[in-house]
Amino acid sequence: MSSKISLTRYLVEQQRVDGLIPSQLRLLLEVVARACKGISQAVNKGALGGVLGTADTENIQGEVQKKLDIIANEVLIEANEWGGHLAAMASEEMDSIYVVPNRYPQGEYLLLFDPLDGSSNIDVNVSIGTIFSVLKKPEGLAGVTEADFLQPGAKQVAAGYCVYGPQTTLVLTVGDGVAMFTLDREQGSFVLTQENVRIPEDTKEFAINMSNMRHWDAPVKHYIDECLQGVEGPRGKDFNMRWIASMVADVHRILTRGGIFLYPWDKREPNKPGKLRLMYEANPMSWLVEQAGGAATNGRQRILDITPTTLHERVSVILGSKNEVERVTGYHTTV
Ligand code: AHG
Ligand code: MN
Ligand code: MN
Repeated sequence: MSSKISLTRYLVEQQRVDGLIPSQLRLLLEVVARACKGISQAVNKGALGGVLGTADTENIQGEVQKKLDIIANEVLIEANEWGGHLAAMASEEMDSIYVVPNRYPQGEYLLLFDPLDGSSNIDVNVSIGTIFSVLKKPEGLAGVTEADFLQPGAKQVAAGYCVYGPQTTLVLTVGDGVAMFTLDREQGSFVLTQENVRIPEDTKEFAINMSNMRHWDAPVKHYIDECLQGVEGPRGKDFNMRWIASMVADVHRILTRGGIFLYPWDKREPNKPGKLRLMYEANPMSWLVEQAGGAATNGRQRILDITPTTLHERVSVILGSKNEVERVTGYHTTV
C-alpha cells in the first residue's frame, strides 16, 4: 500500500481528527483542486490547445484579457456552481459577483479567485497560477450581495494557490499552517509533499519590479537602496533579486526558501493604493505567508486587518520574511 497522502485524505483527516474543516468546506476545496487540475491541463497544452494569446476583451480593471484568463474563470465557475457548497463567487475577471443560480442549492461559503495570475507570462511559457480565498457568508440574511464579500482577510476560512510551473503545486491553509501538494499526473491526484511550511525570518533576496523605482515613495526607495549597497552598505550583506511577474511564482519561492516581495504604491497611478487586488490576491497570499511565520503589510498596517470597501479594491503589498517586512514597514513611519 502506498504511504502517499492525497489531498482528499489530508482534508478528511483535517475534518475528522482536528475538526478544522466542516464537510462543505472540504467539498469546496476538493472542487477548487479539481478545477486547478483542469486549468493545469489547459496550460500544459499551450499552443496545441489553442489557449495562447489575447481574447480582445477587457476586464473591469481595464486589462486586456488573455484567452486563458477567461478559460480559467469558466473552469472555476463551472466546477463550483452546482455542488451546493457556495452562495456566490467573485473573480478578477468578472465585474460583479456571480450568485449561484437558483437551479442549484445555495451553500454558506463565498469563493474569490484570481483565475489566472501572471497573465503576461502565459504566452512565454513561464510559471503562472490560480489564487483563491474562501469566506463565510454572514449569517442571518437571505440572498447574497457584494457587501457580504467585504470582510477583512482575517476572516478567511481557507486560502491557497496553485502554481503551474515545472510542477503543478497546490498550496493551502485552513488556519493550521501551510501544506503543499504536488500534482501526480499518472494518478491524477494532488499528493502531500510538504507540511508545516516555514519562511525563514531573515533573507538576502528581494522581489520588486525595479523598472518602477523612479515612481516609488521614500520608504521603499530607502529600503531597496540599502539592499543594493550590499556588503559595503548599512545592511552589511549582499542581496539577490528575483522578479517573475507572477505573484504566485514569487510567493511560492518565498514560501520555499524565504525572501521579501513588494508591489508598493507608486506615482504612476497615485489615486490607486497599489496594483494588486486586496481580496483575491493580497489576502490569500498574506494569510499563507503569516501561517508560515512570515508577515504581510501595506507599509502601514497588517493586510489581513484591512476592511475592503469594494470587491476589486487594490492594495500596496509587502510580504515575506518577517524581519525584512517589519523593517520596510518601520521605514514608513521613520523615513
Ligand atoms: P494578473 O496576471 O492576475 O493581472 O496579475 C499580475 C500581477 C502579479 O501576479 C505580478 O506580481 C504583477 O502583476 C506583475 O506586475 P508587472 O507587470 O508590473 O511586473
Ligand atoms: Mn493576479
Ligand atoms: Mn489574473
